[in-house]
Amino acid sequence: MQTYPGEQLEVLLAHSEIKHRVENLGKRITMDYDGKPLLLVGILKGSFIFMADLIRSIDLPVAIDFMAMSSYGAATKSSGVVRILKDLEQSVDGRHVLVVEDIVDTGLTLNYIFGHMRSRGAASVKICSLLDKPSRRQVAVPLHYKGFEIPDEFVVGYGLDVDERYRNLPDVCRLIKE
Ligand code: PRP
Repeated sequence: MQTYPGEQLEVLLAHSEIKHRVENLGKRITMDYDGKPLLLVGILKGSFIFMADLIRSIDLPVAIDFMAMSSYGAATKSSGVVRILKDLEQSVDGRHVLVVEDIVDTGLTLNYIFGHMRSRGAASVKICSLLDKPSRRQVAVPLHYKGFEIPDEFVVGYGLDVDERYRNLPDVCRLIKE
């Protein structure tokens, strides 16, 4: 994979390892939601590759929808102000919702989404995140399904970006600035 000037990549999670873990999560979700109609809600944009692989590992009828949230930049985000840029197209009323994220960092985004789903009458709300950076947490969020816990390092690939770059990497990589 070509890098941009002044940047280097180091594989943190190889695609084969991610694939194995995602299949495992899919199996657990399949068992847990047997008999319950499931709505998977992907949070754009970072979750799109994880979501695409995860739904193919779930052997149940599933519906999908997406939301996009604002990221005003670090200063506003740490104030806890989160705004919806793209809302759901389907009602969550009475439905079992599984929110799919690529990474939980401060927890502010998911904390907002969790409350939002509950206030809209979801029968249940659970969270599935590929990555978890617990050392950065500002607000506790229940992480029901977790792929990997990672240290406080900047990571890209498998959907995650820096300034929209590197989302297409098959691995999750550390981004090292020279
Ligand atoms: C990332 C990630 C989560 C959020 C997590 O999105 O996809 O939605 O940040 O951070 P938090 O736990 O501190 O709230 P980002 O704003 O980078 O947008 P993107 O998914 O479009 O890249």
